[in-house]
Amino acid sequence: MSDLHKYDAIAIDGPAASGKSTAARRLAKELGLIMVNSGEMYRTVALAVVQNEVDPSESVAVVNLLEEIDLHCAVEKGHSVVILEGTHPGEALRSDAVNAVVSQVAAVPEVRNLLVAAQRELLNLGDLVMEGRDIGSVVFPDTPYKIYIEASEEVRNQRRRAEGQVDEVSSRDRQDAERKNSPLVVAEGAQVIDSSELSIEEVVEAALALLRDRGWFERKGESATP
Ligand code: DC
Repeated sequence: MSDLHKYDAIAIDGPAASGKSTAARRLAKELGLIMVNSGEMYRTVALAVVQNEVDPSESVAVVNLLEEIDLHCAVEKGHSVVILEGTHPGEALRSDAVNAVVSQVAAVPEVRNLLVAAQRELLNLGDLVMEGRDIGSVVFPDTPYKIYIEASEEVRNQRRRAEGQVDEVSSRDRQDAERKNSPLVVAEGAQVIDSSELSIEEVVEAALALLRDRGWFERKGESATP
């Protein structure tokens, strides 16, 4: 990747509610990088499936819908945004209806091909932190900056409940880890951070330590002690 692109990607993967989005946001802010939440892209397609009353188990119908909808990804104020039919879906992306179908929709190969291409395109805009399930394994397999954040199922369920969401975290994880196409895995070379007992600051510190070890700051011409 480094030879083909001017910019570098930090890949953060992990199961639902592992704390990866918060860590990725903090890291992006601290280092001045573009923050990309790839899950929102899958959620946007899932929202279109819900709004158009498409059966998520009918992959042909999902693919047909993909061809009909107007969906594109952009970066605004340093964050990725997905625009569906000209507007930002906002909080609808976190609705119970979307939580219930997103893993099924994300298992459709055509959905993944479209979104992975859009994710790679974003690297033309600048250095970025991208969080998801297959960022280190599929989207940017050559990046040396790979982190996998996990947490116990109990802690992850508690976090979702604290956010007021009905989210079958374990069922989504099972579907995400068992699908044939780009399952959730610890990517080769990724450093695993268990966030169950850590504060967000400690998770970010562990991520910064990995970046220091793997030469991010030298590469960016910065001091290794941000
Ligand atoms: O990160 P999240 O929980 O908002 O992601 C929602 C769903 O999208 C997740 O259950 C699986 C899918 N997803 C994926 O398949 N690949 C990604 N890179 C990101 C998310």
